[in-house]
Amino acid sequence: MILLDGKKLAEARKKQLAERVQKFSTKAGRAPKLVVVITTEIVASQVYVRNKMKACESVGILSEKIEVPKSTRKEVLTEILDKLNHAPDVDGVLVQLPLAAPFVEAQVNSTLSWTKDADGLTYTALGKLFSGDPSVAPIVAPCTPQGIIHLLQSHQIEIAGRRALVIGRSNIVGKPMALLLLKENATVTIAHSKTKDLHALIKNFHIVVVAMGQRNFFKASDFASQTVVVDVGIHGSGAGGSITGDVDFSQGAEHLAAHTPVPGGVGPMTIMTLLENTMKLAETKLGIFS
Ligand code: GUN
Repeated sequence: MILLDGKKLAEARKKQLAERVQKFSTKAGRAPKLVVVITTEIVASQVYVRNKMKACESVGILSEKIEVPKSTRKEVLTEILDKLNHAPDVDGVLVQLPLAAPFVEAQVNSTLSWTKDADGLTYTALGKLFSGDPSVAPIVAPCTPQGIIHLLQSHQIEIAGRRALVIGRSNIVGKPMALLLLKENATVTIAHSKTKDLHALIKNFHIVVVAMGQRNFFKASDFASQTVVVDVGIHGSGAGGSITGDVDFSQGAEHLAAHTPVPGGVGPMTIMTLLENTMKLAETKLGIFS
């Protein structure tokens, strides 16, 4: 059984990225820059944003936080994004989800320029991904699914021609995950909370990506022998304050081909991909590639 160690891979990629940032900064005369917009006071979101900004700093990417309090008029967020679209020193923008009311995802995804979309979540970026046409390919893909593809590839997990099940249909994980697996020539099925008899279904797939958001919904022993299981779930304050996922791998995981740990699997790859996405946006904008 292979442990898909996202922490280790993220560390290795971080070293390479820091060199890329350095080369870019020398040629461009400035470092790449990410702006993070946050509208919510949810503590977990604030912590995520802080961690993303710290990660930027660790590779030499500049970051700036813009707080938009929920008391702000809805239109102000659109105006802020429009300004960022035109700011020459800003390469990437991330609007942390979930948004606080009165803001709505549709206003972000239709206003932010796809060329500055560090999450790959704007409708243009998603549409480009959907098309599958390399001549209109997006610059970046959504962070969590893209990080998972890198994690599978780095462990030589075969994707092409294999049956892959994605459990979850969110725009941020499930749907782009299915598209990226399809791009890698997997035979893809999407399941979700209304799917009947998930426990029977999961036995028919080589690769299962679980993004249901329910702590310990599956046990390792629920999966067929030699399945590759990717757990996107992150649930805080489990037993003893621990972080656990959607799958309980604590017992009976030996028969799996591979699985991600929680924590230390998908999470570090999501942050790492955000940094790489920001770098790609900056390189593309200035036409500086190393
Ligand atoms: N909230 C949780 N994960 C993410 C992410 O990857 N991007 C954004 N924008 N918000 C999130």
